[in-house]
Amino acid sequence: MTLAPSVLAADFGRLAAHVRQALEAGAEWLHIDVMDGHFVPNISFGAPVMRGLRSLADEFGVPLDVHLMIEQPERYLEDFADAGAALITVHQEASPHLHRTVQAIKALNCQAGVALNPATPLVALEDIAADLDLVLIMSVNPGFGGQAFIESSVDKVRRCRTLLAGTGSRAAIEVDGGVTPQNAGALLEAGASVLVAGSAVFKGDVAENVAAFQRVQSARGAVYRA
Ligand code: DX5
Ligand code: ZN
Repeated sequence: MTLAPSVLAADFGRLAAHVRQALEAGAEWLHIDVMDGHFVPNISFGAPVMRGLRSLADEFGVPLDVHLMIEQPERYLEDFADAGAALITVHQEASPHLHRTVQAIKALNCQAGVALNPATPLVALEDIAADLDLVLIMSVNPGFGGQAFIESSVDKVRRCRTLLAGTGSRAAIEVDGGVTPQNAGALLEAGASVLVAGSAVFKGDVAENVAAFQRVQSARGAVYRA
């Protein structure tokens, strides 16, 4: 399991210090939610803010995992690659020329991901899956942190795993939205390997919150060993 705390839920007034707590507790990636007020009804932050977290991420050897919830994402790929993105994920719903966009991400030496909104069927990935490093299954409608997890996402992850196997894709499955230690086990069981968590990491005691996710992973390890 890879835990990717969503910086969106951190305290922006002390962003680096708050994010550092998650990294010191053992978070493996940093998830960067970019919103444009068009593709989603909210505005978050852009490449300059992410660039400000780059040295912290480098200090811990943690990749910056960029989730672009923006229209015409191809216009900004270079900015985010330049600001230190290791992975760039675009939305299928925002990218009519998805194949071209995915190739453009790879040409910038970043890993390429595609995200699907809750109502977008998996079949939309069938002809691009083999080219992807990551599939992001949205388990809330994107735009805001702190929303309730859509339970049918677990089954979507399971079906996504089957689709990826059928296309020979080696893409990892990431789940984003309303993820908590309570639903993490089911998501991992269904085939997810990267869990994004905003509120469940940054609200309250960050170290204890990260530890709660780590316990889910250890419990699964124990089941496998038994
Ligand atoms: C939703 C974002 C998520 C969100 C996760 O639009 O893509 O990454 O910040 O936050 P929580 O875990 O609070 O749902
Ligand atoms: Zn996200």
